[in-house]
Amino acid sequence: MQFTAGDFAALLGVRELPRACAALAAGRDFSYERPVGAARERIVRQVREHIDSDKPTRVGQHRADIWESCWQENLDKFVRAGFDAEKLVPDFFKPEQPMRLQQDYVLPRNRKLGLDIAGRHFDFFQPDRALTLPGDSGVLTMAALEQVGARHAPFLEYLLRANPRICVNMEPLAELYDTAKLADDLALRYHRKRGYLDGFLTALRELAAKRRIEILDVRRFFFGSLYHEAYSYVAWRPLLEV
Ligand SMILES: C[S@@+](CC[C@H](N)C(=O)[O-])C[C@H]1O[C@@H](n2cnc3c(N)ncnc32)[C@H](O)[C@@H]1O
Repeated sequence: MQFTAGDFAALLGVRELPRACAALAAGRDFSYERPVGAARERIVRQVREHIDSDKPTRVGQHRADIWESCWQENLDKFVRAGFDAEKLVPDFFKPEQPMRLQQDYVLPRNRKLGLDIAGRHFDFFQPDRALTLPGDSGVLTMAALEQVGARHAPFLEYLLRANPRICVNMEPLAELYDTAKLADDLALRYHRKRGYLDGFLTALRELAAKRRIEILDVRRFFFGSLYHEAYSYVAWRPLLEV
């Protein structure tokens, strides 16, 4: 099956993709297969066994050194390979694995992924208050705030104080799973086992009720990795206290 520019637009909840994105979607192989019967059962069994095993590690502050060494390893590989951009793709992308799409599992035909990465140090647990944001700033987190579990208050407080124009958090949002669906139920179990972002959307909704922020959009994209949907999003903006 092909995943077309129109499918991307529907998934993202927009009428059509901007021209550059549509060209990207048309120019690459985004075709996939939908496993059925025994093939699908094998995947479900594997996911269940993984969740029930001691392999999924819990995320949190204790893992700061692990992230530091993982990224250092990536950097070393990149330099050793003569600055080959392919080596920037982190090891947690597992192109050989099935992925999730529209609350079920799929097998992408083209297993190659591309990424551009740039960064600076910022700790969600201890945000650097000296880091001020210009008035028209936007803040985007992507599958990273997930790592703080229930300890999102320091970052939220930082954002309320820093007052960016918009914040977009593309993160696994536990509140959005529909546990009546098998693939969602397994994703939420995995989410809880790893200790991913907990109560963040609820906290934002409480702030919105108090008129401290405005929630602009909440959406799930109905796609993700074998184990969960890391790229749901909430878009919001702080409201100045009057
Ligand atoms: C699953 S990776 C996602 C990386 C990247 N955003 C992506 O989408 O490919 C999780 C990221 O969270 C970052 N991270 C973990 N704990 C953090 C913390 N306390 N403050 C800021 N970033 C953190 C890690 O360094 C890592 O880059």
